[in-house]
Amino acid sequence: MSSRGRSFLAAVLSATLVLAPPQILLAASPQPVGAQNGMVVTAHHLASEAGVEALKSGGNAIDAAVAVGYVLAVVYPVAGNIGGGGFMTIRLKDGKTAFLDFRERAPLAATKTMYLDANGDVVKGASTNGYLAVGVPGSVMGLETAREKYGTKSRAELMAPAIKLARDGFSLEQGDVASLASGFKKLSSDKAAAAIFLKPDGKPLEIADTLKQPDLATSLEAVSKDGPDAFYKGAVADKIVDASRATGGILAKQDFEQYAVRELEPVTCSYRGYQILSSPPPSSGGIIICEILNILEGYPLSYLGQSSSATVHAMVEAMRYAFADRNAALGDPDFVKNPVSTLLDKTYAKAIRDSINPYKAGKSADVTPLGLAESNETTHYSIVDKDGNAVAVTYTLNGSFGAGVVAPGTGILLNNEMDDFTSKPGVANLYGLVQGEANAIAPKKTPLSSMSPTIVTKDGKLFMVIGSPGGARIITITLEAIINVIDHGMTIQEAIDAPRFHHQWQPDRVVMEPYALSSDTLKMLAEMGHNVQLDLGWPIWGQAAGILVGGKSLSEIEQGGGARLNGAMDSRAASGAAKGY
Ligand code: GLY
Repeated sequence: MSSRGRSFLAAVLSATLVLAPPQILLAASPQPVGAQNGMVVTAHHLASEAGVEALKSGGNAIDAAVAVGYVLAVVYPVAGNIGGGGFMTIRLKDGKTAFLDFRERAPLAATKTMYLDANGDVVKGASTNGYLAVGVPGSVMGLETAREKYGTKSRAELMAPAIKLARDGFSLEQGDVASLASGFKKLSSDKAAAAIFLKPDGKPLEIADTLKQPDLATSLEAVSKDGPDAFYKGAVADKIVDASRATGGILAKQDFEQYAVRELEPVTCSYRGYQILSSPPPSSGGIIICEILNILEGYPLSYLGQSSSATVHAMVEAMRYAFADRNAALGDPDFVKNPVSTLLDKTYAKAIRDSINPYKAGKSADVTPLGLAESNETTHYSIVDKDGNAVAVTYTLNGSFGAGVVAPGTGILLNNEMDDFTSKPGVANLYGLVQGEANAIAPKKTPLSSMSPTIVTKDGKLFMVIGSPGGARIITITLEAIINVIDHGMTIQEAIDAPRFHHQWQPDRVVMEPYALSSDTLKMLAEMGHNVQLDLGWPIWGQAAGILVGGKSLSEIEQGGGARLNGAMDSRAASGAAKGY
């Protein structure tokens, strides 16, 4: 540690007289769900049930992840999908790891300036609404690749629950209705979407209404019978391409025919003796989580205390530097050379640590001139099976309900992932995203993501599975859950529920959830020069889904005797559930 870092610690330690890590922290969370055999944590209880059924009937974690992926596409239309894409991080029981990139790709006809008008200005809404916003979907190919390579069950068996829920319908509960209500305006403006997600009179669906999706059932049945070809080479692609052409989109059949999943090396790093396994580019998630952890490893966060001004200052400064790197440097690895080894280098992290003033907030303008913001909806699920195979999946339509369009006859909501590209370098998109050339649009290119499906191990053993939706905040939500467990001794449920804070380099401010920081802490941070603002997140601040192995907290793991699997669905989630057996 630098002398500056040491003096910072000495000052803080003598001021706070903290001699041992605090043992009692947030105590407002329910207990995690304990189970011995398998655990499935998803944003919808029906999907969690389908996952557990897949495990109970002899499937492994990957089988369960496939079943869950399809069920979420039916019961969680805000983000669950077959019209979007995502990432799957896998750690098998023998320690072998894998990462599947089934994120959307830009259509072949896409151009760098496709969202600009004749004056070179960004056309508002062009990259978020309607067919021009749609990237070539990857979920069907991704789930099938996972099943074929790492699963054990037939496609028909794994897709059956989703098909039944789409065909017979399911009764809407409070969380479902709230979710659909949040997309009411968007879903009303597309005839095919409105016919599915609204009442016949155009009013919102209500609690206890049954949501049936016969077209989606037919699309799923076709995939179940004929595999991804039904989607990418058959009638589904034809219908999407026809609807796109009819409304100014650029999707072509060739885009679907050429779609391929990439199997990539996951990003890995160490943090205080734990191994982190997460998403590589085209996600920024794993690299930026690792960069921040590398910086923070030099600070004794557990002694500084959870949500103390010293801890928050160190974390915010680490976030500031890492997010600046994220925007300037990263993009699709097939198109740009990502400086992965530099960003993961502990010496690089030390140099950043040395430039952090221990008493004063940094200035983002002095770090690098780019920026980043968040997108709205995505979903994450975590699964561990009886043998110890672990899967973390984050997949998305990007914004809530994606582009808000359903190709007639398919029942499939389509993504607006093209908005994750740089529409114009230096200009914010709808969500304030300001990015650089590395993430410029090009045919077949994948937009940079923040999705971070993450698996943590200790001494070669599975320790934690974690991830969240939340746009750019995915990174800090996942990071804070890891730190809350490892440094602050929280149970997995407390770690996920703990109020959050976030800095993403630009805009130069710390945002926090209500109750994240005490008045004293806020005062000290303000004195250091931090601009802290209250932010509820939109519509909520992520929905993390985690599993801790061997106990509900680090101390229970160390003492032994805890449940083998401890599942926690974010208390912010309206319809999610951790379910085990
Ligand atoms: N669309 C959100 C993300 O990939 O980061």
